[in-house]
Order: sequence, then structure tokens, then C-alpha cells
Amino acid sequence: MSDTNQSKNACELILALDIEDRADALDLLEKAGPELRWAKIGLQMFTKYGPDYVRQIADLGVNVFLDLKLHDIPNTVAKAVESVGKLPIQMLTIHTCGGKEMMEWAVKAQENINPNLQLLGVTVLTSMDQSSLDLLGIQQTPADRVAQLASLAKDAGMSGLVCSTHEVQTLRAAFGNHFTLVTPGVRPTGSAAGDQKRIMTPAQAREVGSNFIVVGRPIYGAEDPAAVVASINAELQR
Ligand code: C5P
Repeated sequence: MSDTNQSKNACELILALDIEDRADALDLLEKAGPELRWAKIGLQMFTKYGPDYVRQIADLGVNVFLDLKLHDIPNTVAKAVESVGKLPIQMLTIHTCGGKEMMEWAVKAQENINPNLQLLGVTVLTSMDQSSLDLLGIQQTPADRVAQLASLAKDAGMSGLVCSTHEVQTLRAAFGNHFTLVTPGVRPTGSAAGDQKRIMTPAQAREVGSNFIVVGRPIYGAEDPAAVVASINAELQR
């Protein structure tokens, strides 16, 4: 098993398991082969199949990133972290905009229930732009908002963030190697961008300082997922 306290310069691949059907997801993991060490389970599959599905994926020998983006009052989030923290998972997301107290309670619950679990803070969703922030009455640019929420996360004891590859350099400049940074929006050279707008290749993501890249469609949409995993891993290790 891998852990998230790796050297800050190493970069590992996480497969986004955005697959509608449990059997298809298990089939994909088999096809992806032993080189795949991490899988991300999101809200769609967790709300459909629940904790048993998480255990089933973990039983296949991959590390699980449970992407639930928790956001509620501090007590409720802490209780949710306690519940899912008992599952065989290595990463869990919470929303930093839930506030400092919410994050502090989440960190405390995580430390009590599963000291090896990496909590990751989500800052500004990449689906939100300046006009979305304006509509919420937030008078900051998305970049300033990310920096402010990251600072709050650090003060609350958080040590990981999910962010765009294009935010990594700014976050590294401001916070050094404090955070484990996990970045979606990565595309191997030659694969379709889909709805991802500002993409980087795996090598570029590692170069700017990502610790983990999340890739979905280029792997699960491929004829030979194991070949794509192998080529991404080769690129990350070059
Ligand atoms: O298929 P694709 O590689 O675009 O999948 C990326 C994964 O990362 C999806 O599960 C998506 O929900 C997630 N994600 C993202 N952008 C964020 C946060 C999460 O694309 N800002």
C-alpha cells in the first residue's frame, strides 16, 4: 500500500472511477492492471452503492480516494469523517468554504479515527468562474479566493488540497511543500480534453509540483486502459 506522506516531488496517478455500474467499475480496475495504485470514488457511486462498494474496491488492492466534498456544520462533518474514516480509504475531501472551525473539527476527527487518512480541502470548484463568485456576493477573483481558502485550510491544520494544475505554482510559492496537492484536469498528449478547459499533461503537472494527478476519461474510455496507465506512469517517472 502506498501512503500520502511521500516525497513532495513524486507524482502518482489516481484513476477517477466515474463509472455508472459497479460491475463495469470492477472490470475496469481489472483491465487497468497492477500498475494502477489509486482509484477515486465520487458522490455518484458512493450514493448509489455505499460503503460496501468502497470495501470492494479496496479489496482489489488499490488505494481509495473518497471524493465526498463534505460541507456542513462542524459537528456533522466531524461525525461524517468518523464514519467514513473507518473505511479502507487513504484520501477524503471536504470543502474549505465550510470554514475554519469545520475544518478543525474534521482534522480532529480524522486524527482520532484514522491518522493515516489524508484529508484534502476543495477550494473553488473549477466549474465556478468570476461571474459565479459575483452571484454569490464574493468580491474576489477565483485566484484570490483559492489563496485565501488555502491559507484558512493551513491555519485549520489541513495538509492537502485539490486544485487545478494552474494553481499549483502559486500555492507552492505561498505555502512551500506544506500541502499535498492533488490535481484533476490532466490529459496525456493526444487525448481529448472533453469538458476540461485548462489542461496539462502528466509531465507538466509533475513539473509544476503536483503530488497526485486525477485522470478519468482518457483511461476508462480507452481500448486498452492498462496501456494508458503504463504510459502515464512512465511519463510521471521520467
Ligand atoms: O474524466 P476526467 O479526467 O476529466 O475526470 C476528472 C475527475 O476529476 C472527475 O472525477 C471530476 O469530477 C474531478 N474533478 C475535476 N475538477 C475539479 C475537481 C474534481 O475534474 N476541480
